[in-house]
Amino acid sequence: LLEPLDDGAVEGQFDAILGPLIWDLGHIGNAEELWLLRALDGRGSRRPDLDRLYNPLVQPRSARGGLVLPRRRETERYVDSIRHDVLELLAKLDLNDSNRLLRDGYIYHMILQHEAQHQETILQSLDLRQNGRPYPPALRQKLPAPGVVDDEERVLVAGGVCTIGTVDTGHAYDNERPRHEVEIPAFQMDRFPVTCRRWLEFMEDGGYRRQELWSRPGREWLAASRCHAPQGWLWAGADGWVLRRFGHIHPIDPRTPVQHVCFWEAQAFANWAGARLPAEEQWEKAASWDPEAGRARLFPWGDDPPTPCHANLDHAGWGPAPVGSYPLGASAYGIEQLVGDVYQWTASEFRPYAGFSAFPYAEYSKVFFRRGYMVLRGASWAIRPIVSRNSYRNWDLPQRRQIFVGVRLVWDAH
Ligand SMILES: [Fe+2]
Repeated sequence: LLEPLDDGAVEGQFDAILGPLIWDLGHIGNAEELWLLRALDGRGSRRPDLDRLYNPLVQPRSARGGLVLPRRRETERYVDSIRHDVLELLAKLDLNDSNRLLRDGYIYHMILQHEAQHQETILQSLDLRQNGRPYPPALRQKLPAPGVVDDEERVLVAGGVCTIGTVDTGHAYDNERPRHEVEIPAFQMDRFPVTCRRWLEFMEDGGYRRQELWSRPGREWLAASRCHAPQGWLWAGADGWVLRRFGHIHPIDPRTPVQHVCFWEAQAFANWAGARLPAEEQWEKAASWDPEAGRARLFPWGDDPPTPCHANLDHAGWGPAPVGSYPLGASAYGIEQLVGDVYQWTASEFRPYAGFSAFPYAEYSKVFFRRGYMVLRGASWAIRPIVSRNSYRNWDLPQRRQIFVGVRLVWDAH
């Protein structure tokens, strides 16, 4: 991800809400050292001076641009030497050890997911960047061709008991446990994520001006941000709206899921459509529950890991795919593109499930509970498959729109 960039782009900061890319790179190596060398093998700190610089709790994103960080070459050498030692140690370890960190490879999966999440953050920064050469210079993978679909189709999810959360201890994060039963009344859900076509209709109907569609904090955000379109949408006069993505200017494909909208925008859109954002339990049931088998699936389509036929993940296409592109990825209810393309905002604040216990450290999720963070479900095109599963819970502040997030609506069943 960093290779096509010059040193100035890697070491500078594009936006106050995201640190410089060089911080993410050094922090990826530091987390790897902390867990895969020090916690697992009792080694001392390689560079005690770096531990504080790369601690995200000591250095909030807004402060990272002001830190005196090692330069690019030094950071690369540090990260490479950590990786070398990590692989050497891995060859000697027994993953069936009674050590809970090692069992089922948990700590390796955690660190792989951590790196994937920072890769996604790096892509968020590059997408926000205003100046510099378009990125990526020459990388565009082919996505499957979509069928012709009705982007407003709704699907009925029958009422009844289902399970939420997971018992998996090899990959899942602490906040996805414990698994528990929930009774959810019937509801209708969008078969597809909300498309740019629907979003344009909302805008043309005065969506960003009609105060009655917005909640009070939403109106405050609207007034302060002066936004009147999703992040990256530019008004091009006679050409209408166009999209700036990684510095490239594209026409807006009306069939693709809208992305880069904040929670307040998603909520106003839902009000405009006479709908609601799903509670996170509704989202998870729609994605995971198999009513015939009476059990939850790991992924919407079943228990098999994602392939490029199931979902738009893993930086494929460098953006969301048109709705209808992934019929093989449908859930048991026939709902599509739940995982892949864009995360979807839910109406749920990030909270622990009853019986939650922090593992392996409180700072992963516990410190974020009940702090006004909203839950995002699904997985974006910018995340690696290892971070995509039905039980995965992402979260961010309601005003954030640098995330690759979109919208999916629910209605009462009639
Ligand atoms: Fe991190």
